[in-house]
Amino acid sequence: MYSSEIFALTENYVAPTYKRFPLALVRGAGVRLWDAEDNEYLDALAGIAVCNLGHCHPRVRDAIAAQAGRLMHVSNLYHIEPQARLAKILCELSFADKVFFCNSGAEANEAAIKLARRYGHEVLGEGAKRIITMHHSFHGRTMATITATGQKKVQTGYQPLLDGFDYVPFNDIAAVAAAITDKTCAVLVEPVQGEGGVILPAAGYLDQLRALCDERGVLLMFDEVQTGIGRTGTFFAHQHSSIVPDIMTAAKALGNGFPIGAMLASNRVMSHFGPGSHASTFGGNPLASAAALATLETLRDEKIVEKVADKGAFLRAGLESLQQRFPDKIASVRGLGLMFGVDLKIPVGEVVAACLKRRLLVGSAGENTLRITPPLIIEKTEIELLLQILTEVLKDVEQHHP
Ligand SMILES: Cc1ncc(COP(=O)(O)O)c(C=O)c1O
Repeated sequence: MYSSEIFALTENYVAPTYKRFPLALVRGAGVRLWDAEDNEYLDALAGIAVCNLGHCHPRVRDAIAAQAGRLMHVSNLYHIEPQARLAKILCELSFADKVFFCNSGAEANEAAIKLARRYGHEVLGEGAKRIITMHHSFHGRTMATITATGQKKVQTGYQPLLDGFDYVPFNDIAAVAAAITDKTCAVLVEPVQGEGGVILPAAGYLDQLRALCDERGVLLMFDEVQTGIGRTGTFFAHQHSSIVPDIMTAAKALGNGFPIGAMLASNRVMSHFGPGSHASTFGGNPLASAAALATLETLRDEKIVEKVADKGAFLRAGLESLQQRFPDKIASVRGLGLMFGVDLKIPVGEVVAACLKRRLLVGSAGENTLRITPPLIIEKTEIELLLQILTEVLKDVEQHHP
C-alpha cells in the first residue's frame, strides 16, 4: 500500500483522536524506520520511550514468535510460566516483592490508585482515600488517570471527574506537607515528569517526599511508566537516589513495543489485594510476558542500561553546544540518561516538522519543549547524525525566524 492510501484509510475510518504527521511507517530495525515508499528515518523518539531496544530486536522478535507458536493466551485462573518468571525478574530489578500485570500505563496507574485506596481503607481509616498528585503530571487517559493528571487540557469535557484527588506544584515539598490530611492515603509522582516537559526533580526532592510520607504514614507511589526500563540510566529513575517507593508502575518500554503494564509493590502493601480485588483478562498473558521477559533479559545480559549515562552525556554535550550556537532558538536543555527536553524559543511544532522532512523523528512535550528519547541502543555515530540534522534544522528555521 502507498502512504497516500494509508492516510486516506486512517482519515476515513480511524477515530480522530490524534493529530498525525503525514507519515506511514511500515518497517523498523534498530534505530531506523522505513515508510511505505521505503524512505529511511532515524528514530530519536522510540515510540515515545517505548522501543528502548530499538525496533524488532531479534531476541524480542524471536521470543514473541516462539511463544506465539506455543501458547498465546490462557486465563489468569491458571499459572502462567512466562508471567511468573517476568514477575521474579521485575522484583529482582526493583524494591518490589509482588507484581500485578495489565496492558498499559494508564491501567497500571488505575491498579496503583485502587491499591492505595484499599490500603487507606484497611490501614489508615475508612475516609483515607485521597491521593495527592502534581501539577503538569501525566498518568494516562482513563477516567481515574485523567483525574490524577494535573493538566486541565486532558480533563476538559469529561466532568464529573473522580472524587478524591488533590494537586500540588511539582518540586514543592512544603506544598505536599500542607496538602496531606487524615483523609490522604498516598502521594503519586513521576520521578521525572515526561509529558509535562521533561521536568527533573530538584536535588533531594524524592528523598524528602519519602521522609514526609513515612512521617505522615501515607504511601509513596512512583509512576515510572515513561522513566522506567533503563530510560534514565538506571533501571528505574528513582534508583538514582537511595529511597524506594511503596508502589511503582511501569509500562511503555516493558515489552519493547508489545503492550504490557505492571504495578509493583512491597508485600506490606500488596497484601491488601486478594483474590477478586482486581483483575485483567489479558494482564501478563503468555505472549505479552514472553515479550517483556526477553526485553528485560536482553537489557540485563547486554548491559544496555549501564551504557545509557555515557551516551546521554554525549547527546547532552551536543545539545548544549547547539544551545550556545543558537541562543535565540534554544532556551534550555534538560535531561537524565537518554530522556531529553529542549525548551525552544521558536514553535516546537515547526522544528519537529522540519526534522521529519530531514527524516529524523523527534517529539514534543509540555508547552514548547522538543522531546528526544532515542532507543537506548543508539550508537554515538547515530547521535552525531541526530545532532547534525538538528543543526541543519535550526539553521533552516533561523532563516524563517531571523
Ligand atoms: C508517566 C506516564 N504515566 C502513564 C502514561 C499512560 O500510559 P499509557 O498510554 O500506556 O496508558 C504515560 C504515557 O505517556 C506516561 O508518560
